Amino acid sequence: MRRDHEHMLGLIERIVSYCDQRDQLNSCNDCQSTQHTVCHGNIELLVRAFVEMTLKHNLVESMYMEEVVPNEHRVAHNQAHMEIAQQLKEIRLVFSADGNGIQAIEGIDRVRQTLSEHFREYDQQLEAYLSATAASD
Ligand SMILES: [Fe+2]
Ligand SMILES: [Fe+2]
Repeated sequence: MRRDHEHMLGLIERIVSYCDQRDQLNSCNDCQSTQHTVCHGNIELLVRAFVEMTLKHNLVESMYMEEVVPNEHRVAHNQAHMEIAQQLKEIRLVFSADGNGIQAIEGIDRVRQTLSEHFREYDQQLEAYLSATAASD
């Protein structure tokens, strides 16, 4: 689980550091069009890889939770995963509509915040439940 989290944060880092014009520009449309095309494809690939990895990771966690954690934790944790999925979906929707990679990168930056809180609020607790179960087996 922790390795996944590091991997996810690593991908976020690659995405948010991808564009070096973000301080000066608000939109990729203000960049040279040849540059714009290259960036668009790369950002799309990176974001897709990150979204797929995150959704898969959350699914695996949800499977771990079955029959192992108290119902209250499981419901709240799954709800939190759905909110993350929604946030990711919106980033991709907006990006495919307007093609502004800078905005997509900023969305991913906000997801970093959401995920860091999620690791602290939910995943740490899940890890504790899992290791308690392993110890009692
Ligand atoms: Fe989680
Ligand atoms: Fe997680």
